[in-house]
Amino acid sequence: MTSRAVQYARFGGPEVLEIVDREDPEPGPGQVRLAVRAASVNPVDWKLRSGAFAGTDAPERPVVAGQDVAGVVEALGDGVDAFTVGDEVLGHARGGAYAEKALADVSRLVRKPSSVSWETAASLPVVVTTAYRALNLLRLGGDAPGTVLVVNGASGGVGIVVTQVAVARGITVVGTASASHQDDVRALGAIPVVYGDGLVERVRAVADHVDAVFDTAGKGDLGELVALTGGPDRVLTIAHPDAQTHGVTFSSGGGNAEVEGALAEFVGRLDAGTARAPEVVVYPLEKAGQAQEDNRTGTVSGKLVLVP
Ligand SMILES: NC(=O)c1ccc[n+]([C@@H]2O[C@H](COP(=O)([O-])OP(=O)(O)OC[C@H]3O[C@@H](n4cnc5c(N)ncnc54)[C@H](OP(=O)(O)O)[C@@H]3O)[C@@H](O)[C@H]2O)c1
Repeated sequence: MTSRAVQYARFGGPEVLEIVDREDPEPGPGQVRLAVRAASVNPVDWKLRSGAFAGTDAPERPVVAGQDVAGVVEALGDGVDAFTVGDEVLGHARGGAYAEKALADVSRLVRKPSSVSWETAASLPVVVTTAYRALNLLRLGGDAPGTVLVVNGASGGVGIVVTQVAVARGITVVGTASASHQDDVRALGAIPVVYGDGLVERVRAVADHVDAVFDTAGKGDLGELVALTGGPDRVLTIAHPDAQTHGVTFSSGGGNAEVEGALAEFVGRLDAGTARAPEVVVYPLEKAGQAQEDNRTGTVSGKLVLVP
């Protein structure tokens, strides 16, 4: 059987993405094949597509874009007993998610509750696992009442999740966002401040001290964020190009760095109604390039989700 996938055979702008018909991928040991219901766009998808991490003009073989996936299990690889055909799941795809069919390691999947839509489910894996990992690295892995955390970019995908999890742990969160997202950040339980010039003064006006800083945005003056805690020790970034200059830890993604159970815990919170997911904006699979561009330029807020 064949099915559609969005792939690129050379690095570049959104124009390098093409829809192809390919043979359905066969799950290896410990993997399942999903009939994809939704896949979400993460900034890393268009960064990888651009070749920013590569140093060559083209990948070794065509790459199907995307990591975040939600779908129905339709084929099992050897040794899979955690899921069966027909199960509804979400998680991290292996070998691409912008497709009608995708593979995933069962260790990177959790069950999708019926209360969570396909689009919302697909919006979660990367941002949720990143948020929990960051809190662990900042030594905020458990309840920490009285601690003050500044989240730079609290209105973004990672920011919305990390803010809610931190607030639930008793942490006071000061969250930066644009002027138009101040109410959204307040609704998450954080104290909102506008990012940009004068940030240090605005934070100090609402918090008498800052214990830790999580820069989700990779934008703004990292030196100012370091000044808030008095040193780089408890400042973490997942995206800032100036991390090394300021002695700040840069945490990149990666299987070994994930926090066991994070995705299942946050999905459980959504199912129980004690957390809310990022807003989603839905595009057809054919508009993958447009969705990546809208995410890159920030012209559309929320998690951008592709449906085949
Ligand atoms: N290393 C990793 O493991 C990892 C994992 C996931 C993501 N990331 C990276 O983390 C970054 C954020 O990802 P995301 O999915 O959360 O993106 P996103 O949803 O686009 O959110 C971006 C956030 O940055 C804020 N922002 C924009 N300009 C800013 C500025 N000048 N100063 C401070 N904040 C600003 C936005 O606020 P407004 O919308 O209010 O303007 C928003 O809160 C991306 O670069 C992504 O590649 C890294």
